[in-house]
Amino acid sequence: MELTITQPDDWHLHLRDGDLLKAVIFDSAKHFGRAIVMPNLRPPITTTAAAVDYRESILKALPTDSNFTPLMTIYLTDMTSPNEIKLAKRSGVVYGVKLYPAGATTNSQDGVTDLLGKCFPVLEEMAEENIPLLVHGEVTDPSVDIFDREKVFIETTLEPLVQRLPQLKVVMEHITTVDAVKFVESCKEGSVAATVTPQHLLLNRNSLFQGGLQPHNYCLPVLKREIHRKAIVSAVTSGSKRFFLGTDSAPHERRKKECPCGCAGIYNSPVALSLYAKVFEEAGALDKLEAFASFNGPDFYGLPRNNSKIKLRKAPWRVPESLSFPFGDIVPMFAGETLEWEPIPI
Ligand code: DOR
Ligand code: ZN
Repeated sequence: MELTITQPDDWHLHLRDGDLLKAVIFDSAKHFGRAIVMPNLRPPITTTAAAVDYRESILKALPTDSNFTPLMTIYLTDMTSPNEIKLAKRSGVVYGVKLYPAGATTNSQDGVTDLLGKCFPVLEEMAEENIPLLVHGEVTDPSVDIFDREKVFIETTLEPLVQRLPQLKVVMEHITTVDAVKFVESCKEGSVAATVTPQHLLLNRNSLFQGGLQPHNYCLPVLKREIHRKAIVSAVTSGSKRFFLGTDSAPHERRKKECPCGCAGIYNSPVALSLYAKVFEEAGALDKLEAFASFNGPDFYGLPRNNSKIKLRKAPWRVPESLSFPFGDIVPMFAGETLEWEPIPI
């Protein structure tokens, strides 16, 4: 069995920099036409000038025959100025502004402390320039249970935001709860959307502890209960245009995952398309995969759909146990397991 679909894009990706960038970029460029590239480097990409430089280093790291296009983002801080948004728009290479609540996740220490209080003029400028806000949707208050942080963020930040600034486009990234599904479905189509990762479609929080602590299943927002996973699967396989593919592939070296205080992030670029196909097949909705993977994202961002195609062949293939690089190993999602769908670029 074979499935040919328009080439997908990845609307949420961590490409890192330096050796790690060179190690991982090919796994994305092989399967995806474009990717929204996250700005949480050290130091973070907080200006258009830095995004332009970062884009250059990504292009340099790509194989010469690659058509992969990085779509850059800038990292919102309490200090970002409305003028930076004007520069971002004028650059033609910045496609979103990323909100990390300060302290929410990897390299978020320079993020926002009070979105509505400190960033409102910037958000108004983004609405004016039609640049979407890409949201890591979790509160950072340590007294809020980690499994409730997305729900509380929706109530305390996202609902007031869309009420006060309905013209702003918002992408709720890597949604993990039925609350996020309901929130996105309650907003105006075309103004609020969500990306969905393979891990939040296939795993629930049991996977963090199956047979012992599983650091390679640890990401943020953390995996949730089965009821949440099921709600997300129903949402994406319903054919709704509000949900689209965003892997949140977030490579960390093995030694930074398998240690006393391991990093959050799952490296899924090599397996993501196989896994999305598995989810849609199991839901009896393979006919809806192409819209989720290749149409809904560009339609939301106002970009053309890709012309190229990719083939998915139903044939077993084994995911490597780990990927070795001169600086160390990276363990991919579903390492050592056999998957059913193999993507073949054409
Ligand atoms: O699991 C995650 N890893 N979640 C994030 O929000 C950041 C990412 C990373 O950069 O490693
Ligand atoms: Zn991410």
